[in-house]
Amino acid sequence: MDNKLLFAVTALFNSPEEILHAVREVRLAGYTKYDVNTPYPLHGMDGAMKLKPSTLSYVALVLGLTGTFSALFFMWWVSAVNYPLVIGGKPYFSLPAFIPITFEVTVLLASIGTVVAMLFIYFKLPNNSYPLHDTEYMRSVSSDKFGIVILAKDPLFDEDKVVSLFKDLRSGNITSVYYETEEINVRHTVFEPKFLSFMAATFIFTAALTYFSLNYILYWQPFNWMWFQNRVDAQSKSTYFSDGFGMRMPVEGSVARGFIPYPYRGDQASASKYLVNPLVASKEVLIKGQDKFNTFCSPCHGYFGKGDSRLRGQFPAPPSLQSEKVRNYKDGDIYHIITVGQNIMPSYEKQITREERWAIIHYIRALQRSQNAKESDVK
Ligand code: HEC
Repeated sequence: MDNKLLFAVTALFNSPEEILHAVREVRLAGYTKYDVNTPYPLHGMDGAMKLKPSTLSYVALVLGLTGTFSALFFMWWVSAVNYPLVIGGKPYFSLPAFIPITFEVTVLLASIGTVVAMLFIYFKLPNNSYPLHDTEYMRSVSSDKFGIVILAKDPLFDEDKVVSLFKDLRSGNITSVYYETEEINVRHTVFEPKFLSFMAATFIFTAALTYFSLNYILYWQPFNWMWFQNRVDAQSKSTYFSDGFGMRMPVEGSVARGFIPYPYRGDQASASKYLVNPLVASKEVLIKGQDKFNTFCSPCHGYFGKGDSRLRGQFPAPPSLQSEKVRNYKDGDIYHIITVGQNIMPSYEKQITREERWAIIHYIRALQRSQNAKESDVK
């Protein structure tokens, strides 16, 4: 014991009241390098020790701000300096679009950085040894005793005085704790072969367990029960039907719920006779008709319906929609042609809703009128 270096003197108490009292006395005696260990958090302990709030929150603040500014800086550099791209006509550096990533990086750096700072700055990793570890004192305070330690590095420290102070406070158990010789010599016990092998073993065990559960256990009963179900998946085979297909065609004549089939297929005369444009040629309807006409019809029929296709001969040029014939068509005729197509012109039933078809027809009428204006139109 003689040549050992003193680390601290510890004292144990039996109740929260005693330890709170002891702490106050120790503080009033002028000691600053002391600590308290209790089996559970004690109300009023922070006040009794006059603890300042942890500085960890400042670390989090600094790291968070670092995240904010580095994310913003990097996005600014990428999208405004190094590789400027106009996206949707927005400015290169358009802050609102960068907020989500800025937020994410802020939170990421603050959270991970705070944990790392806690481990390495506050807990002093990779040094994980502490003279109080494995002492009778630690065993007691993690069970049913309340302990206080005054460290030898306290400027006022004097072993005899501290012991007599603890005696005055009526502690039943006062111990001096010494550094283990190896703790003085070996600083980074994390790098001990024993510890490293333990970490490696833990790593291999966890990895193996994960591999095993994901690749084997999940395929065992009962974990795989949901997998096998009495149903036919899309594209799968079926032994039930003679043709072996799991997917079936709907029964002939079935109609989708809420859908009325087009009744004049192959009968343009009836379409012409019975169909009436249900829309009023309002401004909105015409704008919608123009939009859909330019998208779906103008590539072949031209922006004014004159038959001036933009497809450069890749598709036979269609007849003009300004012709006498089409001008005399009833709305129902054009609706019919959009719906079922005509000769090589394909059907647009799938691409254009019914309402949009009627809007297109209003727009075609407007186009026709614009190219064939009568004097009465001007008045
Ligand atoms: C892929 C090119 C193409 C597109 C797109 C196209 N059409 Fe046609 N359209 C044609 C062709 C070709 C004909 C002539 C078909 C024929 O030989 O009878 C035609 C014929 C017509 C006719 C009949 C004209 C007539 O004189 O018989 C109308 C009306 C018509 N299209 C309207 C439309 C409308 C409205 C759209 C947009 C929804 C549209 N077309 C989209 C190629 C197209």
